[in-house]
Amino acid sequence: MDRIRIVGGKSLNGHIRVKGAKNAVLPLMAAALLTEDEVVLRDVPNLSDIRTMTDVLIHLGAEVSFEGDVLRIKANNINKFDAPYELVSKMRASFWVLGPLVGRFHQAKVSLPGGCAIGTRPVDRHLYAMEQLGVNIDIQNGYVLATGKPKGNKIYFQIKTVGGTMNALMAAVLADGTTEIINAAAEPEVTDLARCLVEMGADIKGIGTQRLIVNGVESLHGTSHTVVPDRIEAATYAVAAGITQGQLYIENAHLYLMEDVVFSLCYMGLDIFEKDNGIIVKGADCRLKATDITTEEFPGFPTDVQAQMMALMCLAEGTSTVTENIFENRFMHVQELVRMGADIRLQGSRTAIVRGVPQLSGAQVMASDLRASAALVLAGLAAKGETLVSRIYHLDRGYDHMEEKLRVCGADIERIKIKSEE
Ligand code: UD1
Repeated sequence: MDRIRIVGGKSLNGHIRVKGAKNAVLPLMAAALLTEDEVVLRDVPNLSDIRTMTDVLIHLGAEVSFEGDVLRIKANNINKFDAPYELVSKMRASFWVLGPLVGRFHQAKVSLPGGCAIGTRPVDRHLYAMEQLGVNIDIQNGYVLATGKPKGNKIYFQIKTVGGTMNALMAAVLADGTTEIINAAAEPEVTDLARCLVEMGADIKGIGTQRLIVNGVESLHGTSHTVVPDRIEAATYAVAAGITQGQLYIENAHLYLMEDVVFSLCYMGLDIFEKDNGIIVKGADCRLKATDITTEEFPGFPTDVQAQMMALMCLAEGTSTVTENIFENRFMHVQELVRMGADIRLQGSRTAIVRGVPQLSGAQVMASDLRASAALVLAGLAAKGETLVSRIYHLDRGYDHMEEKLRVCGADIERIKIKSEE
């Protein structure tokens, strides 16, 4: 139950490197179940979510090792086909083992993930995809029981779903015949998964588009794959430069992965340009300008940067609007930011109106989910006085040593180890 203590007001200057994307590594780990050969993933961040997925793979019988930033998975001795409630309820990405287990072993028993702090997050589209592939789906005692060898077919996603597209892809690569995934999610993490599957011997056309054609193959083999950089981590540090009026070189960040975020930040007054293998983000000398954002599927503004952007808007001049289109309950950070002096009003459950204030003040705040925690840390970096963020286990799910990276660039930030939450 650690906390993070920040004394705000220090300008951040220096160099931060982002690693591979958590949201790509997790499905890539699941994809390693599709072959008995070793799959090596490179540039993997050290995160608690990666450890949870490691536990799921080990439970199934895979061998997993993690040294430095290299993760090795060998699934040549899979002897269980279930993902238990304890692991799926801890991290819903565990549900992604459904597709590969069905694809290679034609059976899976995976716990339904249940609700989540940011919305109901159903998995009906994942199950629809499996059924389209001829897999028999039964729900019993909170578990999805899936049986049968997938057969190629058309899968039409009425809603674009990142997780659903990934599960469908992983079930389809070893199917008999051809699968067409229509209205597929085209997030960079989906593209990275598809590329890795091709490196493993899969036949996938239309990668990076909304129409994926998968010709099933007999078997897949091992590969060594460098994970796509984390655009959400990069965007978080870009906001850190902006909110502290500093200047950061964010290595391994790429504009093509985060165009909409960069566009909004530049509109507000930041200066962002590519340099070597990364981007330079320069804060503005004067107050930032308010802006409006609406979260959308890639290449639109990512829901995973909405909370961090709101922290920046709190200090901009004028009124900003945030519309959350992906999740129905992703404003848990609002009341915490208000405790720090922000002026934010919710209009219904999908819109927040942010009136910029000249200064935030440090406060004790509580993280409710991963990106909300990042927003509170960012607000704390700019606030006057001390901010204490509790429940930061959320932060450790998705940011590799965030406080160390920020401290090296001049932030007054420390992790306070606490044995039990009072
Ligand atoms: C989503 C985000 C992803 C982000 C991740 C973690 C999008 C499109 N997806 O991915 O960028 O990294 O959360 O924050 O931005 N849905 C259904 N039925 C399903 C699956 C999804 O109704 O079976 C709905 C969801 O409730 C949501 C929308 O579809 O409203 C998109 O969900 P989906 O992309 O599947 O969510 P994640 O894969 O978790």
